[in-house]
Amino acid sequence: MLSQQIFRRIQSTPRKWLVTGAAGFIGSNLVETLLRLDQDVVGLDNFSTGHRRNLDEIRERVSNQQWQRFIFIEGDIRDLNVCTQACSGVDYVLHQAALGSVPRSLENPLLTNSVNIDGFLNMLVAARDAQAKNFVYAASSSTYGDHPDLPKIEHRIGKPLSPYAITKYVNELYAEVFALSYGFKTIGLRYFNVFGPRQDPEGAYAAVIPKWIASMIRNDAIYINGDGQTSRDFCFIDNVIQANLLATLSPAIARNEVYNVAVGGKTTLNQLFSILKDGLKEKDIVYEQQPIYRDFRAGDVLHSQADIAKARELLGYVPTHDVIAGIEAAMPWYISHYLNLSAAKN
Ligand SMILES: NC(=O)c1ccc[n+]([C@@H]2O[C@H](COP(=O)([O-])OP(=O)(O)OC[C@H]3O[C@@H](n4cnc5c(N)ncnc54)[C@H](O)[C@@H]3O)[C@@H](O)[C@H]2O)c1
Repeated sequence: MLSQQIFRRIQSTPRKWLVTGAAGFIGSNLVETLLRLDQDVVGLDNFSTGHRRNLDEIRERVSNQQWQRFIFIEGDIRDLNVCTQACSGVDYVLHQAALGSVPRSLENPLLTNSVNIDGFLNMLVAARDAQAKNFVYAASSSTYGDHPDLPKIEHRIGKPLSPYAITKYVNELYAEVFALSYGFKTIGLRYFNVFGPRQDPEGAYAAVIPKWIASMIRNDAIYINGDGQTSRDFCFIDNVIQANLLATLSPAIARNEVYNVAVGGKTTLNQLFSILKDGLKEKDIVYEQQPIYRDFRAGDVLHSQADIAKARELLGYVPTHDVIAGIEAAMPWYISHYLNLSAAKN
């Protein structure tokens, strides 16, 4: 399988990687994969939305020898010195640190702007100065904004619908300018609604899948914003890991571009509700409440679905999990961890 081929290629040539946002959902999964492939990994995070428990979990899941190859820096990407220290001697950068969430950015645009734009620029400068071979960064499907076309194709974007979307688009502009002006190699991965183990179910800005599963496990109410026909192209974490590794090792022709990272599927919130309910039922957790419908949320797009042809052709990306396979793969993790979280809360 393709993922296995990339894994073997990486394992045969150990390199030094920097993963920013290493204590977060996507970052911690990238760190774990790289350590399992016997790479040297530097992690950077300030724990603003990430958790030490994510690092503890990586430690439990890799060998002692692999864990010794991990250096963690607690620091803020808004501090250039921290970024310079983190980038020292690295071959590849996987830049994930940012403040996610559209509603958070509407409530505090200044904070989102400073982390997602100033922090991003610091990382670009530090990685360029350290002569990193490739800088792969988390872009976002929010960049499509109000463009009506479906599925979303990389070069057709609309006007941003939130401060968060602006910051992610500015990242792409800066990356492009760094490629043009300094010959620095970058690749942006426009993630579409990623889900999987270690995604935080708590707080006002939690993503829908972890939030609903945790609520179903606790038998709490589930709220659907809008009529439930809002749809998303939910993307399992393994697909995102694959895209990051492929992008990092991609040939010159694939560089300095942005790519959709998704499955190309379409799942409405009503369908998602049923998929999660059925997935839990298979594990003997029965949720009998009906969802409660409320107003649409400001800044949200109604439909989001990716065309993944560009990533397929130029990166060789082949998603291994659709939404159902991803939920099935992650369900044991969700159940054991969210049951623990609710036990700790009570
Ligand atoms: N999860 C998704 O569906 C999705 C979709 C599109 C884009 N993205 C992007 O992917 C990246 C990772 O998202 P995630 O879902 O893992 O979120 P996350 O919140 O779990 O991870 C982000 C990490 O960045 C860290 N961080 C935030 N500000 C920082 C700062 N100033 N200095 C250092 N570290 C800082 C946080 O503590 C956290 O650990 C983000 O750039 C996000 O915008 C995610």
